[in-house]
This record gives sequence, C-alpha cells and structure tokens, in this order.
Amino acid sequence: MTNLVTTSFSAVDLDALGSFEGRVALVIASDGKLDASARRVNRLTKGAVARLVEAGKLEKAEAGSIITLGFPAGMAAEAVDILCLDRRPSTQDARKAGAALGKVLSDGAALLCAGSNTKSAQIAMGVAMRAYEFTPHKSDTEPKSRALTIMCAKPEDVEPEVNTLLAIAEGAHMTRDLVNEPANVLTTTEFAKRLKDMESLGLTVEVLEEADLEKLGMGSLLCVGQGSDSPSKVVVMQWNGGEKDTKPLALVGKGVVFDTGGISLKPAAGMEDMTMDMGGAGVVSGVMRALALRKAKANVVGLVGLVENMPSGNAVRPGDVVTSMKGDTIEVLNTDAEGRLVLCDVMWYAQERFAPVGMIDLATLTGAIVIGLGHDNAGVFSNNDALCNAFLKAAENEGEGAWRMPLGKAYDDMLKSRIADMKNIGGRPAGSITAAQFLQRFVKDETPWVHLDIAGVTSLKSESALAPVGATGWGVMALNRLVQDMFER
Ligand code: BES
Ligand code: MN
Ligand code: ZN
Repeated sequence: MTNLVTTSFSAVDLDALGSFEGRVALVIASDGKLDASARRVNRLTKGAVARLVEAGKLEKAEAGSIITLGFPAGMAAEAVDILCLDRRPSTQDARKAGAALGKVLSDGAALLCAGSNTKSAQIAMGVAMRAYEFTPHKSDTEPKSRALTIMCAKPEDVEPEVNTLLAIAEGAHMTRDLVNEPANVLTTTEFAKRLKDMESLGLTVEVLEEADLEKLGMGSLLCVGQGSDSPSKVVVMQWNGGEKDTKPLALVGKGVVFDTGGISLKPAAGMEDMTMDMGGAGVVSGVMRALALRKAKANVVGLVGLVENMPSGNAVRPGDVVTSMKGDTIEVLNTDAEGRLVLCDVMWYAQERFAPVGMIDLATLTGAIVIGLGHDNAGVFSNNDALCNAFLKAAENEGEGAWRMPLGKAYDDMLKSRIADMKNIGGRPAGSITAAQFLQRFVKDETPWVHLDIAGVTSLKSESALAPVGATGWGVMALNRLVQDMFER
C-alpha cells in the first residue's frame, strides 16, 4: 500500500527553526499578524516574512493557498512555505492549505508551525491526503518517505484528532491504490487477497467463491464473470465496533475489475479507463479500513462483488435470460450494463443475511451520470429522505460533491421485458435513473437505501483539491462521516 506521510508531534521549540533542513511551514492569516514561530523565521531571514506581508501578498492570497520562499538565507531549510489561512478557518480551507503543502512535499520532511490555528489537525489531514503518488510500476522510483512534524503548543491535544483523520486518509489511500491498479495486477483474486489481509486490523473477512455463489443462486452476478478466466467472488467485510445486538449499516460496492463491455463490446478509444470500474468496491474497502483503523463504535458490513466482464466463447450473450438470487428473471439485452447485474445479487444477499438498518451501494454505474453531472458530483438516488439527507450533509461537510436525482414509476416501467421479469437496460433517455430503478427492484421496502453513481468522480484526468491526477478516493470521507454522525455515539 502507498505509505501515508509519517506524522509526528512536537512542542514549540523556536530554536529548532533555524537548523531544520526540510520545509518549514508557517500559518499566517490575511491580517498579516505573525505568531512566535513566524516572528522567529522573520528574524532569521532578516525580515523576508514581514516584507512579504507588507507587499500585500497575503491579502491577495486565496484562503488555503501557499506562498513559497525557496532556500531562504539565514536558515538551513530548503523552503519556507507560508500557508494563507485564517486562525479559525473552515475545515475545507484548512485541508486545502495542507494539500498545497502536501503537493510540494516530495521525498523530504516538513515542519508545520501550527501555532494556535484551530484546525491544525485538518491541515495535517490535507497534507496526508495530497501527498499521494501511485508509483509501484515506475521501475526507477523508490516509494517516497515523507515526514511531517506538527509543532504546536499542546501536542497531546491535537494528536488523537490527527490520528483519527489519518485513519480516514489511509482508507482513501487504499481506495486510490485499488482504483489506480491495472487490471492485470488487480484481478478478482488479488483484490480478494488484499481484503483478506485486512483481517489483521480486526475486520472479519469472508471470501465467497463461485461454488458458494452458485449455491446462493446468484445467477445474475455470475453471468457477468462467466466469460473471464478470473473467478467471480463476493467478499464480506464485517466491522463490529458497535453494540452487540444492533443491525449493521451495509455498504455494497461494484467491483468490475475490468469492463470490456463483454459481447456488447466497448469501443477501443478510452477502454483502458475501465480499469477503474471497481471503484465502488474500492470505496467500500477504503471505508472499512478507515473504520477499523479508528476503531469506530458502529456495526458496518461491507460487501463487494468482484467480477471481470470479458467477451469469450463462454460469455453471456445479448438476449440471454438469467435468474437473480431474489428469483426475478432478467433479460440481458446489453452485456455492457453489467454493474447492475452484479449489484442486484450482492444487495439482495446483504439484506437477506444482515437485515441492515440501511444500505448504501456505490458503483461506477453509468456513462450517463458523467454527461449529467460531470466530474464534480456523484449521482445520489434514494428511497428514504432521512438517510439520503444525512448522506448529502455528510458529503457537503467533507467537500465531496453529491447531487440527488429522482426515481419514479415511469422510469421503472422502462425496464419491462417481453419475455422476462425485466430487462437490464431502459434505453438512452434517463440512463442513470433507469439503472437506479433496476437496483431498486432488489431493495426491500423496509430497507432505507441510497445508491451512489460514482462514474464521474472516481478517477479524474486533472488534479483535484486533495488528490493528484487519477483515483480520487471520493466517498471515503463522506461515508466515514455518515457513520460517525448517524451510527456512533
Ligand atoms: N462501467 C460502465 C459505466 C462507466 C462509464 C463508468 C464511464 C465510468 C465511466 C458501465 O458498466 C456501462 O458500461 N454502462 C453503460 C450502460 C448502458 C449499456 C445501458 C453506459 O453507461 O454506457
Ligand atoms: Mn459496462
Ligand atoms: Zn461497468
């Protein structure tokens, strides 16, 4: 796994500032007032910091941006980074400032003089989130070791908060590693192995193999993987940190390790992007990791359906009819609408086995959601306003875009099949909604359910606030927050 920046804490030691050899980061608000460490750096640099303030650089700076003084005279430091941030910043601005530092922190060390900033832990979280690089396949690149020391008045006060936030960042790192990994490396077997390895964190992890899935009657899920040499699997991860008799929240993820489209083959251009089609399963895995690392006081079960959608002599054909675990029959009119075929069986299994208090599924489900919402918002669909609003609030607080979309009978009617109980496509109009309607057919009336279509937010071609190009880890922070707000006491 990609390593997190190593984070440690120290009491304020102004004499250490002159001799520190990495990056020294100061936090200065737009009023330009210097705290003790900034004054010391100013003195060491013969007034460079004060001149920067007098030049009006901080007034003009956007909240959360940084200004770098390279190789400052009078100090051993490689750079002084000035984080432009109010003393009581928003969580988002604090993370953004940290991220700006995380971005420039290549294989070295940084000393963060957090002073009395109220969000120093969030700054550290931002550093950790952005100091991510996916390098396992670069033969000339050693994994980087980066270190952050937070210098503050009472380290013992921020340390627990930072550790909690770092657990979440580590979860997001895991999600990103899984999403960035190419499909010849992250096969269904390798994916299941990485999840099984999380047992060392106190999770209970079961891997259901094809024979098990056949016994359960998961004909829908199994038809997707039948053209691939990689065996289909369902992995069940349980975190029981809550009270013994409370039902869990269920998180369900689409884990198509590669989506060629199957016999309804996708065009060649851009097909390589379908290595991220396990993004839903990646987020579920990352959230379970975060919950275990921070020992969340809640019961949560994560289930992922791991399959590969390939064309072959054994592959499912357009027109085939399969039977889901629920018993409903599905006419597979397009083998590229495979995500819903995987999810419907895992969702049914989750409800039958766990009777969850709520169920949230995540999937890179439709291209249509990318057309509708672009890359800044995931599509949110729900049968329950309370759970849905709680999720939307959690996402907003964490700065992860999410936008609710409608459901309704007229959309559901578009799934009627001539020869089976339903077909797996509804046509071009409202493509993301008919996909969600398909899933809702496998949600029991009494189960509060949220479906997140994350096709547009899982992996990006340009960097975002907290992530470099590639996998974002979208959803780990929001879901962790939802668990914290709604299911923990
Ligand atoms: N994995 C794709 C959806 C997708 C598209 C994810 C773009 C990420 C980026 C999904 O399995 C798919 O192929 N959906 C089809 C459905 C259609 C055949 C009804 C689509 O969106 O075109
Ligand atoms: Mn597809
Ligand atoms: Zn897909």
